[in-house]
Amino acid sequence: MARVYPEIVEADRPQPMPDGLGHVRFEGVTFAYGPETSPVLSGIDLDVPAGRTIALIGPTGSGKTTLTQLIPRFYEATAGRVLIDGADVRDLRLDELRHAVGMVSQDPFLFSTSVRDNIAYGRPGATDDEVRSAARMAQAEGFIESWANAD
Ligand SMILES: Nc1ncnc2c1ncn2[C@@H]1O[C@H](COP(=O)(O)OP(=O)(O)OP(=O)(O)O)[C@@H](O)[C@H]1O
Ligand SMILES: [Mg+2]
Repeated sequence: MARVYPEIVEADRPQPMPDGLGHVRFEGVTFAYGPETSPVLSGIDLDVPAGRTIALIGPTGSGKTTLTQLIPRFYEATAGRVLIDGADVRDLRLDELRHAVGMVSQDPFLFSTSVRDNIAYGRPGATDDEVRSAARMAQAEGFIESWANAD
């Protein structure tokens, strides 16, 4: 049977997320989507201090999305290391790592359910206050006309 390449497996003794505010470093990161294909990323060094907002700019297909997907380990660097607060992402617990990294897709997507459930889908069991607070942070609270009808 064909094997998916590369396979993302959790470390034998996965570590909890390190203390820190989210300092992201790429050290000599090279990545190819398959063993036979040429690298999409080659020798990337990147240092993004916690709290810094950066933009990755480049032509379509240059690897911007691929680069960001190495942080939550959707794909694995072929060479080099990706570090969060000094910890190699390969050493971290996958569930904690993926909880710690937020992603907003390029294409907005709404599930066919209430506004509340769309906001809360990443955290089942979120309270109404948490959902409203998330809506406020996203500057969406004002145009959600009726929370009662949204339930
Ligand atoms: N799942 C995949 N399998 C194989 N190749 C892929 C995969 N995803 C992307 N690629 C290839 O990797 C390269 C980089 O793609 P990527 O999506 O990272 O570019 P991008 O800079 O985000 O482009 P855009 O500006 O269009 O969003 C492209 O050549 C693309 O065809
Ligand atoms: Mg992209």
